[in-house]
Amino acid sequence: MELKAIALTKKFGAKIAVNHINISLSNGVYGLLGANGAGKTTLMRLFCSLQNPTSGEIVLDDQNITTLGEKYRNLLGYLPQHFGCYPDFTALDFLLYVAALKGLHDKWARKKSKELLEMVGLSDESSHKIKTFSGGMKQRLGIAQAMLNDPYILILDEPTAGLDPKERVRFRNLISAFAKERIVILSTHIVSDIEFIAEKILMMKSGKIVNFGEPPEIISAVNGQVWECVVSSAYAEKYATAFTTSNLRNIGSNETKLRIISERPPTENAIPIQPNLEDLYLYYCKGDTNQ
Ligand SMILES: Nc1ncnc2c1ncn2[C@@H]1O[C@H](COP(=O)(O)OP(=O)(O)O)[C@@H](O)[C@H]1O
Ligand SMILES: [Mg+2]
Repeated sequence: MELKAIALTKKFGAKIAVNHINISLSNGVYGLLGANGAGKTTLMRLFCSLQNPTSGEIVLDDQNITTLGEKYRNLLGYLPQHFGCYPDFTALDFLLYVAALKGLHDKWARKKSKELLEMVGLSDESSHKIKTFSGGMKQRLGIAQAMLNDPYILILDEPTAGLDPKERVRFRNLISAFAKERIVILSTHIVSDIEFIAEKILMMKSGKIVNFGEPPEIISAVNGQVWECVVSSAYAEKYATAFTTSNLRNIGSNETKLRIISERPPTENAIPIQPNLEDLYLYYCKGDTNQ
């Protein structure tokens, strides 16, 4: 199946949160990367048909998703950015409740809920009340509820927020296994979270997709523009302010090594180095003030 945004625009008053986006998504994990305020949540809510576009449309295999209505919603799983749980529900009861809202058959829902709790590592806590859960546990429960109806399209808004490193690894494995033959879109403003999970990156800035593709291919946009240079520590801050700087590290007692993104060499002794996704992100997202 092909999920497409066509000239998709969403305005809030004078604010353009999503600005004339055209993209086509098919099976795979897409990482939506952008600073706070870039428009990630708005774009995801449009894909979930929780919000109507100001202009443009979203189509699944050439059919408008609003026209598809319930047929489309049945294919959809969503984890909102600010996922509220029911504190006095147990994890299992919460999943059964969401399953009921989704109109899933009770017996099947019970089986699926238990499977998912196992998958997200919460089966031992299935009868514990949600109010006793850590942030990471709540987030894992949120991911489980989004997967209840075995969605073809899974949309996760900042799913790794609050997860510790071990939970991140588990999440990555979970998504990779799940994503075969499905469309998974996940957003984050943390580059390292997305580099290893997503096959394709959608870089978003000020309501637009500014770059789209597989990491090695999109990173090449900054080839020859990432530099390493060593400066006297007394001047390090000055350089870091004057240039887009992705890393700054003291070496020895009064020298600092900087990693700088710049069209021209920032110093005479600067050495060009291999760019990474973090460099690309800084290159695009510096000064994103669409707040
Ligand atoms: N309901 C709303 N009313 C007014 N402005 C909004 C609303 N939702 C989002 N915005 C604005 O749209 C822009 C994009 O927001 P959002 O989609 O939440 O970005 P992100 O998820 O990337 O942080 C921001 O400037 C935000 O303030
Ligand atoms: Mg958001």
